[in-house]
Amino acid sequence: MSGISHSIDGPSAIDGPAGALHGPIEIAPRVWWVGNLLPGDQFQCHSYLIEAGDQSVLIDPGSAITIDGVIENVRTIIDPTSIRWVVCHHADPDVCAGLPKLDDLVHPDARVVTEWRAAALLVHYGSRLVPYLIEDNGWAIDLGEGRRLAFTLVPYLHFPGALGSYETSSKVLFTGDLFGGFSDATSLWASDSSVFDSMRRFHEHYMPSGDILRAGLDNLHRRWPEATMIAPQHGQLIPAPLMEEVFERLSNLECGIFLLAEDDIHLATLLAAAALERNLARAILSTASLPELAERATTLLREHLDVERIEAYVRSDTEGLLRFAPDEHYAGTPVASTSPDAGTTFLDLAGDDHTPAIRVYLVLASGQSLPRQFARAMVQLSQPIQVALVEHLAHRDADRERARIIAESLTDPLTGLANRRALNDDHLANDPSAILMIDIDRFKEINDEFGHDVGDDALGQVATVIRANIRSRSDLGVRYGGDEFLVVLREADETHALDVAERIRRQVELIPSAGRFAAAMALSVSVGVTLHESHQDLGLSIAHADEALYQSKLEGRNRVSTTWAPPDAVIAR
Ligand SMILES: [Fe+2]
Ligand SMILES: [Fe+2]
Repeated sequence: MSGISHSIDGPSAIDGPAGALHGPIEIAPRVWWVGNLLPGDQFQCHSYLIEAGDQSVLIDPGSAITIDGVIENVRTIIDPTSIRWVVCHHADPDVCAGLPKLDDLVHPDARVVTEWRAAALLVHYGSRLVPYLIEDNGWAIDLGEGRRLAFTLVPYLHFPGALGSYETSSKVLFTGDLFGGFSDATSLWASDSSVFDSMRRFHEHYMPSGDILRAGLDNLHRRWPEATMIAPQHGQLIPAPLMEEVFERLSNLECGIFLLAEDDIHLATLLAAAALERNLARAILSTASLPELAERATTLLREHLDVERIEAYVRSDTEGLLRFAPDEHYAGTPVASTSPDAGTTFLDLAGDDHTPAIRVYLVLASGQSLPRQFARAMVQLSQPIQVALVEHLAHRDADRERARIIAESLTDPLTGLANRRALNDDHLANDPSAILMIDIDRFKEINDEFGHDVGDDALGQVATVIRANIRSRSDLGVRYGGDEFLVVLREADETHALDVAERIRRQVELIPSAGRFAAAMALSVSVGVTLHESHQDLGLSIAHADEALYQSKLEGRNRVSTTWAPPDAVIAR
């Protein structure tokens, strides 16, 4: 023991002559530290006593060289015959090689509480005490007065059947070697997060792997989140304020087998596969959409393999075979067949009534194949990809339906042009454009004389002419009112606007009057044209175009008027 003394923050302790830590120390109500710290011992073994009348518990009593000091500490608190339970969290010599010394001291019916794998080894220390297998006894011992000592397995940390335990009234978590450290600390209690440094070194070398360590820590944390103190068998005790951080940092520690990987090529592959599996699982948990999932999985796989892409084929009832690949951002494109070089299949699912058939390929650089170890990780990925694909398809259908409904609500059913609602689009007002107002001449007369069917036909024919003369992507043709049309020509200057207006006027004139139109009734339109500056009030521009249209009507119809020329500069036919 090198100068260890009790913490100024810790509960009462008795300082030895050289400042050494002497027990017992009451670390929580009726829970005592009764350890025996030896000079020069890196492990500095802690033992604990739970005072509970004739059901008292001695935890991890110690080795052949520490047990005498522990017994001495116990005697200052209780008569050792009150000890009914001797807990051995695992079977290492520092935990329980001293058991035979307790044979004639503790209660005649005292039992050694442990798990079967430790019990099988404990007999070799030569104690007469009978094992009490905790797994056969409800994983707890009853201490009376409503107090219990509950147990759980923390397998392979670092003993196959290693146990952790929790005393319900004091809320102390006893963790055996877990949370232990090589200690040269001067205090029984950890006072800040530097405790992690000694813990790290101990866990790196004594715990088998990061994954196993995480599993054990998760188990303890989930089971007893209300714990307020960690009492390990080595190192320092962890008070409540440090617990979360220590749990967190230990959970991120790689140890044991992971540290050996660099030396052994086969182990390295295994560990790479384990890391891949872990990272894929994380990616899956935090990824919502199919494109993101596929892209993140590809990135992760590229750390280990020469992956070109992940590619999926889905056979859907409505759309046939769809290909999902990075070149189309996993949007899903109809294809005739799967590509011939599709690569290694890692997921092949036959569809049923509710789910489509899915096949997912990992496309690797030529000459590469998927190592067996990685195949397992890919299987892990298969179900999430299936779920993401099915969801993706459902979203696609919903998006399309939404787009169809929106388009329908913005379309005039008779002419197929946009309706007035389409003019509410912000971009229209923001972009500079030319605006044409187009009105069918004497439309009322057409309707009255030939009936509404013929009138509707005239509207349809004019709409067809308009559509033929505007750019489908940028311009907009609107059925504005009964027989009135509005055209927005984006970025159009005076010349272009006038040109389009005149073409429309002329082509309407050329609509054959035969068929449903009587020869006597020629079809024509009057047009008003204005320029709309960027960010102007669109309504005002439309009103200007309307004025120009009115001008055309006044001038005798079947003509184009503009707002930028004097009224007498009307373009006549
Ligand atoms: Fe151990
Ligand atoms: Fe130990």
